[in-house]
Amino acid sequence: MKNKNIAIDGPAGAGKSTIAKSIAKKLQIVYVDTGAMYRAVALYFIRQNIDTESREEIQKACDSLEITIDYKNGEQQVILNNENVTNLLRKEEVGNMASAVAKHYEVRKKMVELQQNLAKIRTVIMDGRDIGTVVLPDAGLKIYLTASSRERAKRRWNELSLKGIPCNIDEIEQDIKARDKQDMNREISPLCQAEDAVLVDSSQMSIEEVIDRIIALYLERL
Ligand code: C5P
Repeated sequence: MKNKNIAIDGPAGAGKSTIAKSIAKKLQIVYVDTGAMYRAVALYFIRQNIDTESREEIQKACDSLEITIDYKNGEQQVILNNENVTNLLRKEEVGNMASAVAKHYEVRKKMVELQQNLAKIRTVIMDGRDIGTVVLPDAGLKIYLTASSRERAKRRWNELSLKGIPCNIDEIEQDIKARDKQDMNREISPLCQAEDAVLVDSSQMSIEEVIDRIIALYLERL
């Protein structure tokens, strides 16, 4: 395998980040979470009350926001205009806004450039929606990780319930389906499986089984 990077794409809630983080540790490569970058852009849009349908406002926002990535104890930190916003990105509101801003060309151009630069100087496992298709088309291993929307909703429900946050599984599933629809049907870089990606459906698999399968595929290709 010439290119040692791993690309993982798939819909929201498929377990990409948990799995990619663990694989990065095991293989001693760097985990790059691209969703967090779109979320940081979304946070900026929320804070500045930017209209996501106005081209002019989007272009202006893209010109005035700067996102950089740092690593603290091996963990990715997202810096938005000199502020570390890593801990502000996981809210549902930010995720939904991320999906709305990510459909715009100006935003994607800026993020893809940042992501490609990160992969130039290190071996990475990068997760997102367009990694195998657009960001790292030469990645040595491409995975399309998915699970049924019900299973993804169940996992999210478990996560929230453990934190004591009241929630409804049907509503979570509706949200997941709406985000899938938006990500899969946008004009620019829609979420889809790259031709040379391996499909992994984790609906009936444990996290460990998925990790072992991806590492086995990687080692086979080395
Ligand atoms: O993966 P995560 O849920 O953090 O991503 C938030 C949103 O950012 C996604 O729903 C998607 O619209 C967008 N995204 C994207 N391309 C990526 C990563 C995320 O469009 N490479």
